[in-house]
Amino acid sequence: MAKKLRSQQWFGKKGKDGIIYRAWMKNQGIPDYEFQGKPIIGICNTWSELTPCNAHFRELAESVKRGILEAGGFPVEFPVMSLGETLIKPTAMLYRNLASMDVEESIRANPMDGVVLLCGCDKTTPSLVMGACSVNLPTIVVSGGPMLTGKYNGRNIGTSDVWRFSDDVKSGQMSQEELNIAESGLCRSQGHCAVMGTASTMATMVESLGLTLPQNAAIPAADSRRKVLAQLSGIRIVEMVKEDLKLSDILTKKAFENAIKVNAAIGGSTNFVIHLLAIAGRIGVPLDIKDFDRLSASIPLLANLQPSGEFFMEDLYYAGGIPAIHKELDSYLHQDCITANGKTIRENYQNVNCYNRDVITTLSSPFNNTTALAILYGNICENGAVIKPTAASPHLFKHSGKAIVFENIEDYKLRIDDPDLPVDENSVLVLKNVGPKGYPGMAEVGNMSLPLKLLEKGIKDVVRISDGRMSGTGFGTVVLHVSPEATLGGNFSVLETGDLIHLDLEARSLNVDLSIEELQRRKNNWKPSPPLSDRGYTSLYINNVEQAHLGADLAFLKGGSGSEVKRDSH
Ligand code: FES
Repeated sequence: MAKKLRSQQWFGKKGKDGIIYRAWMKNQGIPDYEFQGKPIIGICNTWSELTPCNAHFRELAESVKRGILEAGGFPVEFPVMSLGETLIKPTAMLYRNLASMDVEESIRANPMDGVVLLCGCDKTTPSLVMGACSVNLPTIVVSGGPMLTGKYNGRNIGTSDVWRFSDDVKSGQMSQEELNIAESGLCRSQGHCAVMGTASTMATMVESLGLTLPQNAAIPAADSRRKVLAQLSGIRIVEMVKEDLKLSDILTKKAFENAIKVNAAIGGSTNFVIHLLAIAGRIGVPLDIKDFDRLSASIPLLANLQPSGEFFMEDLYYAGGIPAIHKELDSYLHQDCITANGKTIRENYQNVNCYNRDVITTLSSPFNNTTALAILYGNICENGAVIKPTAASPHLFKHSGKAIVFENIEDYKLRIDDPDLPVDENSVLVLKNVGPKGYPGMAEVGNMSLPLKLLEKGIKDVVRISDGRMSGTGFGTVVLHVSPEATLGGNFSVLETGDLIHLDLEARSLNVDLSIEELQRRKNNWKPSPPLSDRGYTSLYINNVEQAHLGADLAFLKGGSGSEVKRDSH
């Protein structure tokens, strides 16, 4: 082995320190030949019964362990903060950066030579990758896999139907009894959301960055091949340690560009932007929000997956998986990017077949020619805003309408169904103070439910604008991530009901029809709301979180500190 194992700084020590490091491992019934001189592989586990999408991860970790032992390494499984999208209040995003700190410090502080990251539910992927990047050991990601496709009354359903069912119940088109039946068929196996929501987007992102073995993203959690992939990943991480193949060797600027192009082809979540920016910030790759539009604009939507299309992740796997998408994008990708298995991305996809052209379409005949991601600029969003055109309504791509402004989420909930709300199909709903600092944590509330009086008229979409985010399973003509956010006192902060707003997707513009003088007059009178917390982590977050166009990381977490521990403990 060319390089001395990092773990030997613990277990190879002589004297008192060495005794302490080794003896307390032996209390687990482990003979010292098991961990002495072998690559020690940390399995960073986000298992939690409060993260239902990751609740099968103890089983998955066992498969990884088998692979590590088979390859001559020694596995050590450790828990980190787990972020379950559905149960955590006020929003899992508030804790993404906190979890990444847990991951970073847990890896650096402990005797490990390589790491396997077990990721599933939305934030568990970026938080683990961000933390691992700040240490930069050899690292491989194993995703937990999507759920099997949901079933209701003979049809396929998924998380995107949550929004539809909710609106249907609200407008009386669906009964509570029907909803109960649908609810029981929605999540019918282990795994994360089965549409191309944020979890599937993140799993695709890590596969396209080269951080996983091929096919990581789409194998269903309940498919036995998910465990096979986990075991093979366990074997591979031991080899990666021997090769000293670190995250920084894989995560080049080209790898990030590949991930952005693939995201466009799959119609990935808008959350992709914020998480990829944060990961790039940790590994030290310069990435700008403008890169997302520049690299996505020429790529059509190839994957016919919900919420932009019809099918589910299970269908994507049977059709050939992400490598089949990569193959279709051959002419766009940097083909020489090295991946976790030591091969280039092209070597991984060149012999893959597509088995279902309804699910994975071709460049010459794509599912949708519209780009999946666009970045808007204008006097409402001087630092940018994000929209997902493939999930929006084409008749609203160019739209002017009068704003209905909600100052915060409570104001929205209080007034949205008020019969006197002056709203019609041309209105633009504006929701403020749901951004990184303002909510705090930038909640997924940007795809506001429409007012009852519009739903009753059969209207399914209007333009909506906020400084918050949208679930990757959501859809509609929804402008998100407005930066600077409302709590900072910029132009977005002073929008008022009745202002005329212009959205022009083709021109990538979002503006309010107000003079510079009027905007300045309003800003002079603007008063900030007091922060929602002045203590603990939330206060630390509010005071340090960066704006959405920079990835919403805590400013002091950017970059990394490497794997060296400066001082011994004993
Ligand atoms: Fe976990 Fe959707 S709730 S991935």
